[in-house]
Amino acid sequence: MSGAELSLRSAEPGDLDAIAAIEAACFPRPWTRVMFAEELARAFARVAVAVSDSDNTLLGFACVWHLPPEAHLLKIATATAARRRGVGGALLRHSLQGARAAGCEQVQLEVASANTNAVRLYERAGFAVVGRRPGYYREPPDDALLMTCRREWMGDLLPSRAGL
Ligand SMILES: CC(C)(COP(=O)(O)OP(=O)(O)OC[C@H]1O[C@@H](n2cnc3c(N)ncnc32)[C@H](O)[C@@H]1OP(=O)(O)O)[C@@H](O)C(=O)NCCC(=O)NCCS
Repeated sequence: MSGAELSLRSAEPGDLDAIAAIEAACFPRPWTRVMFAEELARAFARVAVAVSDSDNTLLGFACVWHLPPEAHLLKIATATAARRRGVGGALLRHSLQGARAAGCEQVQLEVASANTNAVRLYERAGFAVVGRRPGYYREPPDDALLMTCRREWMGDLLPSRAGL
């Protein structure tokens, strides 16, 4: 998907149904619509959405907490039908650049060790594994990998997309 085909912007209340639908399709213990509404109201949370330019469909979202000097990536997800077309990479790049602009020195996240698609995406963005939490996830049972991205890599390693 080229940059001309999607736009990134902050999530709005009108996006909540679509965000919750993508979330429910992606995760065994999904956040609810109410939980995402709380994120929109939280002063230090940033929820970004990727939207198709052709029909305004919501393609994916990312949720980050800005707590300088650190940021925490809580969620990133792409609608199943839109995967592997650069949506997740565009959202991650956007989120990392936002954290850097907010003065964060590093971005942290936890990811299930079996989630190799996400781990690859994070590694491409400059994240490195810095720890492991055994048994952190219960559905399905898995360890969490702790990953961090340092300020110098924030948003620069993933391909740039014109117009985003
Ligand atoms: C992880 C996820 C967000 C990636 O979204 P996406 O829009 O498909 O990602 P992109 O198309 O931008 O891919 C970027 C890079 O990630 C890696 N990647 C993503 N999906 C992959 C797959 N199925 N197989 C191998 N590598 C993959 C690749 O390095 C890819 O770059 P490439 O296509 O040039 O090889 C998506 O698979 C998803 O929503 N998964 C379910 C939710 C989830 O697990 N989120 C992470 C935990 S919060």
